[in-house]
Amino acid sequence: MAAENNRHWKPPSSWSALPLELAGLVLRLLPAYADRARFAAVCPQWRAAARQKLTPPPLPLLALPDGTFYSLPYGELFRFPGCGFAGYKSACGSWLVFPRDDGCFLVNPFSRATVTLPALSSVRLRPPNAVTKWSDVGKAKCAEPFCTWMHINDSEELHIIKLLLCSPNLVAALVGVEYTSQILMCQPGALSWSVRACDECKDFEDMAFYQGKLYAITDDEDLLVVNVSSDQSTGDPQVSRVGRVIKAKGDHCYKGDLSVYHVVCRENSVPVMPVKKVYLVESCGALLMVRRKIWCQAPRPGVTSKIVAGKSEFEVFKADFEHSRWIKVSTVGDDQVLFVGRRCSRALSASRYGLLGNRIFFLDDDDEHRVDYFYDKENTSCSSYDMRLGDVSSPHPMISWKRRKEMRLAAWLFPQD
Ligand SMILES: *[C@@H]1O[C@H](CO)[C@@H](O)[C@H](O)[C@H]1NC(C)=O
Ligand SMILES: *[C@@H]1O[C@H](CO)[C@@H](O)[C@H](O)[C@H]1NC(C)=O
Ligand SMILES: *[C@@H]1O[C@H](CO)[C@@H](O)[C@H](O)[C@H]1NC(C)=O
Repeated sequence: MAAENNRHWKPPSSWSALPLELAGLVLRLLPAYADRARFAAVCPQWRAAARQKLTPPPLPLLALPDGTFYSLPYGELFRFPGCGFAGYKSACGSWLVFPRDDGCFLVNPFSRATVTLPALSSVRLRPPNAVTKWSDVGKAKCAEPFCTWMHINDSEELHIIKLLLCSPNLVAALVGVEYTSQILMCQPGALSWSVRACDECKDFEDMAFYQGKLYAITDDEDLLVVNVSSDQSTGDPQVSRVGRVIKAKGDHCYKGDLSVYHVVCRENSVPVMPVKKVYLVESCGALLMVRRKIWCQAPRPGVTSKIVAGKSEFEVFKADFEHSRWIKVSTVGDDQVLFVGRRCSRALSASRYGLLGNRIFFLDDDDEHRVDYFYDKENTSCSSYDMRLGDVSSPHPMISWKRRKEMRLAAWLFPQD
């Protein structure tokens, strides 16, 4: 009888015959990665349809260092089936980075692919016989008065500040201690990184691979282009030269290092000062510098010795390579949404995902080894800045996590790569 009643219901096997085009239309209506993953889990045919990439990539995930994720726009935790991804130290596109003593491992939680990079202890110096000026005579001396890789190479605090997979053969990383870092390079599977041993370490804030070239930005907003060549004997990539393409007008009031801070003004008699972060992100074919000012309450002698973070404010600048300058822009575009983060930043089309455009999504994602300020709230979350109104809002109030030291490494993860 039951079979009789169900006569018009087609057996599930026919659902698997969903034409690819139709599957593409369905997937297009599912901007969240979590929904697409459920779609793909229905049967092998649907999984294959989801892999066809007939649709734009889903919205980014927010990765938390305890191995949990949020799949935007949903406010509940998302977990990948099987193994955990806790303890990553950086993220790049769709990759999580796990630096270990025996190598640096990149894991893609979407595809389960892995890439092995050399351990941070395995660095080839250029020149190979470089020593700091206090060491033996007769070697290539780094006699400069500034900090070089040779001054920080033995630090226990050495860590990856930023990692970029530029191309299948080129990985670049900012590696350093606190505010000081150097650019290291390798190709996947290589035995060592390569570094220019006598170059000055800088307060690099971010790096981007833009139109086939590697760019780095310093805390004082100089944009540098990194010229890459290959080692003649091994073919491994190496930095051949770092040139400045934009010299910023130094505004040291905004310097991130609070040992030199300036209290800039008073609001209701509370001294406030901005702490700055800068991000590089490509949007609509342009390279943007996103300057984030976090207005902090300065320490008040006798009241508090702590610097407490407050509201974030954003300014966006476009690189004008021809005239070697940053041009301030008042909008990031009505159809653009920027996701910025210390680990990874991207621009996405707003309308494609039903988002409101001209906004910047950001996190309280501080560096693990830099503490510029404290927070007075126990929890943190992701926020959005409206470029037009100059306002911060919390578009996903359910996304919230406890503000612990290790959670500073929260990162955007982009499924498309
Ligand atoms: C770091 O550089 C010093 C010279 O300043 C050198 O003696 C030492 O071996 C280097 N350590 C590593 C791990 O490369
Ligand atoms: C990069 O290096 C190559 C080869 O060393 C050189 O021909 C080229 O001019 C360099 N470019 C810049 C911008 O320095
Ligand atoms: C803080 O985050 C935890 C999860 O880490 C959550 O359970 C709690 O509700 C949050 N508290 C607030 C006030 O949002």
